[in-house]
Amino acid sequence: MKQLIIKGGRVIDPACNYDRAADVLLKDSLVEKIEPGLEAPADAVIIEAEGLIVTPGLIDIHVHLRDPGQEYKEDIHSGTRAAAAGGFTALAAMANTDPVGDDPAMIGYIRKKAAGAAARVYPLGALTKGLAGKEMAELGRMKFAGAAGFSDDGKPVMNGMLMRNALHYASGIGAVVIAHEEDLHLAAGGMMHEGTVSSILGLRGIPSVAEEAMISRDLMILKITGGRLHIAHVSTAGSVDLLRRAKAEGLNVTAEVTPHHLLLTDRLVKNSGYNTSTKVNPPLRTEHDRQALWKGLLDGTIDAIASDHAPHHTDDKDVEYDFAPCGIAGLETTLPLMLDELASGRIKGFTLPLLLEKLSSAPARILDLPGGSLKQGSPADVTVIDPERQFIIEPDKWYSKSRNTPFAGKRVKGAPVFTVVGGEITMKEGVVTERTAQG
Ligand code: DOR
Ligand code: ZN
Repeated sequence: MKQLIIKGGRVIDPACNYDRAADVLLKDSLVEKIEPGLEAPADAVIIEAEGLIVTPGLIDIHVHLRDPGQEYKEDIHSGTRAAAAGGFTALAAMANTDPVGDDPAMIGYIRKKAAGAAARVYPLGALTKGLAGKEMAELGRMKFAGAAGFSDDGKPVMNGMLMRNALHYASGIGAVVIAHEEDLHLAAGGMMHEGTVSSILGLRGIPSVAEEAMISRDLMILKITGGRLHIAHVSTAGSVDLLRRAKAEGLNVTAEVTPHHLLLTDRLVKNSGYNTSTKVNPPLRTEHDRQALWKGLLDGTIDAIASDHAPHHTDDKDVEYDFAPCGIAGLETTLPLMLDELASGRIKGFTLPLLLEKLSSAPARILDLPGGSLKQGSPADVTVIDPERQFIIEPDKWYSKSRNTPFAGKRVKGAPVFTVVGGEITMKEGVVTERTAQG
């Protein structure tokens, strides 16, 4: 009988509206009890959490692990260690690997390799075979093999009929479709947001309408198919408006936003001197968009925060802006960056329970995952946070193999100090270990 008790912290469980000083007892990989002044069982491991925040294990529903095929950028072990270091107890892995995660064997490979990892991995299957956007992948068989949802992320599904069939089919098997919304014709050749800054820099732009046109299309399709649609990395004010209206109409749609879209704008492309770590898809937008994303996050239009952890090797990024691949690595910065923004007080109405909801209960609900709550009987997945700890983001110290972040050198306030998965400590004061259990 394994027991772990986390004593004296401020326990915040957004799923239950719980926010008070209490002790959390974990037993045999499940949450046993939450109460103030619990007696520590004789054989229990003890975490002293006075002055710390204790919250359901954070879940990142948008991660690129690059495994198989591009293990020089990341692999399942380095990616899950990075997740644990960043305070995440679970993540969903995108299918744009090589080969593409479009069949049950690939889902099985990921689950097997991730058994006992420092964070749980929920593989997402590709929506179309080879991410080619031509033919639907075998969603039912992948779901049976353990796929947590389906997405061609990295690529949009340009064929509306295929999206219609996929949503319809996914609805029949109770699966969520995660859409990367980008009209490739409108986006053609763009490498940053289309606007004043792209004009000044002479870089080809990706207009907001490239995202908004596809969201509009998919919301209209969703109306006739039913099912569940989740919009990945929303980046424009117009997208937030579309989602707000769709939700008001009762459509079954959810959405996520990344820390970089919440914190940065296209001006950084110029101000950083074309630093390729600012190149990401969708691109960093304008201040107007950034403010709209915050508004959407606070009013519930945007359900969750996800990192879109997109690791790239320095050699790949260290080229002219035109040639650099898109992506920002975020597993080890998402929580600290958001805690830091909270501590700054810049965003009115942004609270710690709201932040934790966007990183735990909301992602669990979107993908219908276990966890995301500290209710009795839930998986013993817990994140312990020190809201006062300050540090400088130094990618050289990451567990991730990648270094691509525009936040390098930034001083932040707030950090995870313990990550607990299935009742086992996988990160303590920044040091990560694997689990002994194979779940
Ligand atoms: O910036 C991005 N990088 N956006 C995507 O949609 C894909 C991702 C990647 O896989 O690198
Ligand atoms: Zn992505």
